[in-house]
Amino acid sequence: MQISLQGQIAIVTGGSSGLGREICLAYARAGATVVVNFHHDADAADDVVKLISQVGGNAMAVQADVGQESDVARLFGQTIERFGAVDILVANSGMQKDARFAEMSIEDWDAVIKTNLTGQFLCARSAVKAFRLQGDRGVSRSIGKILCMSSVHQTIPWAGHVNYAASKGGVALLMSSLAQEVAAERIRVNAIAPGAIRTPINEAVTQGDGAEKLLELIPYGRIGEPEDVANAALFLVSDLADYIVGTTLFVDGGMTLYPGFEDNG
Ligand code: NAI
Ligand code: BGC
Repeated sequence: MQISLQGQIAIVTGGSSGLGREICLAYARAGATVVVNFHHDADAADDVVKLISQVGGNAMAVQADVGQESDVARLFGQTIERFGAVDILVANSGMQKDARFAEMSIEDWDAVIKTNLTGQFLCARSAVKAFRLQGDRGVSRSIGKILCMSSVHQTIPWAGHVNYAASKGGVALLMSSLAQEVAAERIRVNAIAPGAIRTPINEAVTQGDGAEKLLELIPYGRIGEPEDVANAALFLVSDLADYIVGTTLFVDGGMTLYPGFEDNG
């Protein structure tokens, strides 16, 4: 099935690596113009832009720290200045700074909440303002779409990662509360909650012995690939998903099915 995002402009935060990179490429293949936000790796972002250009697509890379209000304003400002509008936001940027609870520093707590939760608030707020200003551009059934990157850890508690789990728990209710607030304006807000997907964020546990242990948590029997998430991200912002509002789609090979209970309890 061919999904088209023709004529639409998408901002993907953290678009230079992992899930964000794959989503940029999928959106460009579907005809969207893509703004590849990156935090520090300009070369990697340029690579994504180059790949998109090579197949005749349109893209630009913009550096911005999603946790900084002025950076986010600049990211949206540059997008609108260059392309005239924004129709899709994928609030994907995220990070882990893991530590056992009693040893977790306030710096590591703050850094994760700022990027993973405040970053989504700032980007979604700019997106809602832009959608309202530009109104119905006639490129989609809704006037704008926001996709929040959550995690199975919005549901599954995660010892040693309380900052991360708290940030994703926050994303779940940020997403659904915002969806409720703006649905009547035909702005669709949804989330994806990935399980273990092979990207730079979890390299240490998706390779070698770590991978064996991880597979015990995945009923479907394989670690996810970025395209598993990109496919869902493409569907959710397309008109095929026009009646999907305020939902979190788990893309996790069954990780949230409590596999430990399969022959126990
Ligand atoms: P990644 O580490 O490749 O991607 C994270 C991206 O966010 C990077 O490009 C990084 O530069 C960017 N970033 C970090 N801080 C930023 C900031 N302050 N401003 C702008 N960008 C910033 O890893 P991955 O897996 O692609 O992560 C993407 C999202 O997916 C994250 O929100 C992560 O929590 C989420 N996720 C990943 C899963 C996985 O198994 N890979 C599972 C569940 C959720
Ligand atoms: C984390 C990954 C982890 C996955 C499954 C994600 O939210 O960022 O490191 O592998 O959840 O536990």
